[in-house]
Amino acid sequence: SEACSVIPEPWRFDCYPERGVVVTKEMCEARNCCFIPASSSLPPSRRNGIPWCFYPQEFPSYSLVSLNDTSLGQKGQLVREVKTYYPGDILNLELEIRHETDTRLRITDPSNSRFEVPITVPNATEKAESPAYTVELSKEPFGLIVKRSSTGAVLLNTTVAPLFYADQFLQFSSSLPSQFIYGLGEHRSSFLHDVQWNTLTMWARDVPPMEMTNLYGAHPFYLAMEEGGNAYGLFLLNSNAMDVVLQPAPAVTWRTIGGILDFYIFLGPDPGSVIEQYQEVIGFPAMPIYWALGYHLCRWGYGSSNATWEVVKKMRNSGTPQDAQWNDIDYMNHFMDFTFDPANFATLPDLVKDLHAHDQRYVMILDPGISSTQAEGSYWPYDEGLRRGVFINDSDGNTLIGKVWPGLTAYPDFSDHVTHEWWYDNLKSFHEKVPFDGLWIDMNEPSNFLDGSTKGCPSNSLENPPYTPGVLGGLLRGKTVCASAQHKHSLHYNMHSLYGLMEAKASACAMKRIVGKRPFVISRSTFPSHGMYSGHWLGDNRSHWKDLYTSIAGILTFNILGIPLVGADICGFSEQPQEELCVRWTQLGAFYPFTRNHNPQDPTAFSSLAGTAMKQALLLRYSLFPLLYTLFHHAHVHGHTVARPLMFEFPNDTKTYGIDRQFLWGSGLLITPVLDPGVNYVVGYFPEGLWYDYYTGNSVRSKGEDMRLPAPLDQINLHLREGTITPTQTPNLTLWVSSGQPLHLVSALSEDGSASGDLFWDDGESIDTYETNQYAYIVFSVSQTHSFRSIGYLYGLLTQQSDLRPPSQPCPNLFPPVCRRQPYGHPQDTPQNLG
Ligand code: GLC
Repeated sequence: SEACSVIPEPWRFDCYPERGVVVTKEMCEARNCCFIPASSSLPPSRRNGIPWCFYPQEFPSYSLVSLNDTSLGQKGQLVREVKTYYPGDILNLELEIRHETDTRLRITDPSNSRFEVPITVPNATEKAESPAYTVELSKEPFGLIVKRSSTGAVLLNTTVAPLFYADQFLQFSSSLPSQFIYGLGEHRSSFLHDVQWNTLTMWARDVPPMEMTNLYGAHPFYLAMEEGGNAYGLFLLNSNAMDVVLQPAPAVTWRTIGGILDFYIFLGPDPGSVIEQYQEVIGFPAMPIYWALGYHLCRWGYGSSNATWEVVKKMRNSGTPQDAQWNDIDYMNHFMDFTFDPANFATLPDLVKDLHAHDQRYVMILDPGISSTQAEGSYWPYDEGLRRGVFINDSDGNTLIGKVWPGLTAYPDFSDHVTHEWWYDNLKSFHEKVPFDGLWIDMNEPSNFLDGSTKGCPSNSLENPPYTPGVLGGLLRGKTVCASAQHKHSLHYNMHSLYGLMEAKASACAMKRIVGKRPFVISRSTFPSHGMYSGHWLGDNRSHWKDLYTSIAGILTFNILGIPLVGADICGFSEQPQEELCVRWTQLGAFYPFTRNHNPQDPTAFSSLAGTAMKQALLLRYSLFPLLYTLFHHAHVHGHTVARPLMFEFPNDTKTYGIDRQFLWGSGLLITPVLDPGVNYVVGYFPEGLWYDYYTGNSVRSKGEDMRLPAPLDQINLHLREGTITPTQTPNLTLWVSSGQPLHLVSALSEDGSASGDLFWDDGESIDTYETNQYAYIVFSVSQTHSFRSIGYLYGLLTQQSDLRPPSQPCPNLFPPVCRRQPYGHPQDTPQNLG
């Protein structure tokens, strides 16, 4: 009909998002929607095409029937008269608009007692005085319009499609002010998302990263640009399985199958401030222990502690820096947590002692699955876990059994504090045998080699919801436990994507108590708030050039998601890398905030030419440690990004919006890696200004243009931005030894002869040095009366004081058994109720 055909294709909102069905006219009209086969030839069942079945303008929605002022904003009542085509419509809703700060607006539904994500968020008590936003409401049908006051830019307009609020189907759509949208992890994609009918599904999943697929973590947050270089963000605080659909209008649809609609809008106005405001809600990342920023070496299948040790020795002999040696599941006895293979890894405790004697650290893997098939009395983790009731139950209340590396396993329920104590007890007693320094927590989606459990899953609306988002395989239980499984806190249906966060919290907390230092934890599955407890690696990539490229978008995305300690497996996890790829990857990897090689090949396994190039790249990283450490301090205290997209520093230059082959460390160090085989040059974009070659000090003035740079195999292109001072140090084999070496400052003068920079320095490992005032923070600036372009190397200006070296004795163990959310940025916070 006329009413249908007037809706332009980019503005058609999908009325039949179910996958795997070919929608007919009859099916579509049964939903009272418009049916028009799209002009493109994509079949109607295609997941990411123009919808053939879409909402007409007059599709019934909610009406706003009352509105009252509150101390924080407004509260209103929404009523729906006509049911939708999904069961369990909630016909009466309450809407609360909270003007929490001048740059933060929260819109939530306070009335229904439904599942809510158990992370602590700030509790605003006073209405913002001069908000940067305005909120307009349309009554019939109900809609919300949020604008930026200063420009009138429309950041949210939900009148574009009907609101759905059924028990297992909650959906709203909005126009977007531009097609420049970022975030929405975890996915493999370019850094800038495609808005051409792109569905990004969120539901934690163990799968080697591929495009268009839900991956290990879930992050319902986006950052988007407006006209004129302004940026804003939107965070939907919801952990249920969901789709986020981007379409070319441009517009976005949020479609979740549980919880409530509770979302925040952050007004920035620059991209960096948006991210800071987001982290004020989810929590700032922890300050890493210094050696977290060194080189980590790992491999699945060293096969023995002696073989692991040999590699460590080869690394030392070759003069390649290494701070941490890791082991994968092959250290365990039959892949069981909290054991080590008594034959092949008999010398593991000695290896760890030797690492410590060389100022190196040991990190080992733990998977959540606990073997459930050992003879009673022979495996304490399971026996005691059963006794204390720490495992996830199936819907009948029996321990749910799945299958992971050790065979049949039970899954700890990290939503409960009893489980945290049990996890701690296990870690503590294992630590007495093998004094590990950090934890690698893997398989925590949680992964299951079976779908659901040994018994399958019951048939009910949790397992087969009326609508299932585009999860890989089409079933929520795919390669995980049943959606109807029970945690102490709630159903797995609600808690699934929180599993990694909950385990990370238990692990970081336990490590604090055991070692009395900043915990080092790297996790595969993540959710907002994760950065407070752990870092992340990007999972099972491959030794392909393409994976080298996509790692940059992954790293930048996690930096905007508040998890700056992130890296990809250098040289690739699966398959054997060619030497050239591994060299280029080590050069780029030296600039991942978290630098780990997890590949059969280590730097000593290649030709001496390649080995030397890799060593140079790592020494370069070690020499830049003072800068990197200072950037992490700013991440921890202010929510800054460490690895930073160019658009964060140049938001007025739209040519930077799609850049994901280059990035910055902080505001001033530009990294331009080679991402292609067989080349000896690289093209990089240089925003307007003066840039200095890091190695030669030669400067180039860019008008905002691409430049072709020589790129010999033994060097990665690095440039310093005018006006910056970069603190560096003489590198050594470990960061511990490096930290005793002289510090240097490299100043890159701007046209007018000035530059500035800073340095955060402390003992590198004590907890809360910033919060307890045990640090040095130094700001540098240079100015010259005669302006000339130069790069200055001010050697030996600052020699580190001996009392700034890490103390050999850890501080006394003062940590309470229950970890509390760190208070900075959240003065009003109460202890977190997550476990
Ligand atoms: C998973 C991890 C990978 C690890 C392997 C064996 O695939 O992602 O890093 O090596 O399990 O533990």
